Amino acid sequence: MKKKVLAVLLVMVMVIGMFTGCGGGGNADSDLPRIGIIQMMEHDSLNTIYENILVGLEAEGFKDGETVTIDYQNGQNDMTVMKTIVQRFVADGCDVIIAIATPAAQAALSETSEIPIIFAAVTDPVDAAIVDSMEVPGGNVTGTSDAISPEDIMNLAKEITPDFKTIGALYSAGEDNSASVIADLKAYADANGLTVIESTVTNTSEVQQAAQYLADKVDIVFSPIDNTVASAMAVATDVLYGAGIPFYVSADSMVNDGGLATYGIDYTVLGQETGAMAAAVLGGEDTATMPVKTMDDMSIYVNTNTADLLGITIPDSVMEKAIVLGE
Ligand code: TRP
Repeated sequence: MKKKVLAVLLVMVMVIGMFTGCGGGGNADSDLPRIGIIQMMEHDSLNTIYENILVGLEAEGFKDGETVTIDYQNGQNDMTVMKTIVQRFVADGCDVIIAIATPAAQAALSETSEIPIIFAAVTDPVDAAIVDSMEVPGGNVTGTSDAISPEDIMNLAKEITPDFKTIGALYSAGEDNSASVIADLKAYADANGLTVIESTVTNTSEVQQAAQYLADKVDIVFSPIDNTVASAMAVATDVLYGAGIPFYVSADSMVNDGGLATYGIDYTVLGQETGAMAAAVLGGEDTATMPVKTMDDMSIYVNTNTADLLGITIPDSVMEKAIVLGE
């Protein structure tokens, strides 16, 4: 009798062993390393990043379904959804979690301090309390940053529309990635005798009203690399251009979606770098000592349709260097 119980227990332990572990699920891919990818929400830039993460992983030999199992999930701009997704990644025994955008990285970090997390496009990982420092992240998390300089974008704005005194700042109060850029914008404005008027939203449905609030108060509007505004560009541009106000943004996708101009990074490169970092961690490297990567290949992006709409002539000095979008 005792022997039988022991034998049953032994079999149970073996069966449990088969169905857990990194492969998870006991399916045909169970021996492959497993990557959970969580994307905060859908918008063009984050989609581009995701596609290029796959390119970066493949370049290092990690192809979904062949040499790695990838579980790709959309967080729907909802912190509760994001946390639930990460809990499942943890339960499934993922070897690496890739988190696209700041809120996704924060959700991942809140659910595991052990599984390595590689983040993509976190504007300010120190301010967002994700890493200790850019050089030595210190824990189970590192990745790529799309840090930009609002000062550079304002200098570009001066070349295109020189006479502004009042800047409207349109952004989401819930996104730490935006707060950090707006702090820099205010410091720049203070040092240059300019005024910043803020108008914040908590979700996409508030963008119209927030833009409207600025429309009769400011000379130009600026949005940081804000996911919520990026996914509501049509509404924002309708309101602002109806009032004749130039709208400067922070990412190429936002220019493509109607923003007048920006000085920003290349998200194709960023995605591939993120994939390469995840591959390095699968190969045994430690996130704690892998510096956060920032992107230094910046370009000017302009939307000439928007310039035409606003009756603005973009000076040759800008056009010579610019990548034209929205045509
Ligand atoms: N940098 C943003 C963050 O930290 C994510 C992001 C990437 C983004 N590309 C973008 C936001 C384009 C708006 C537009 O969350």
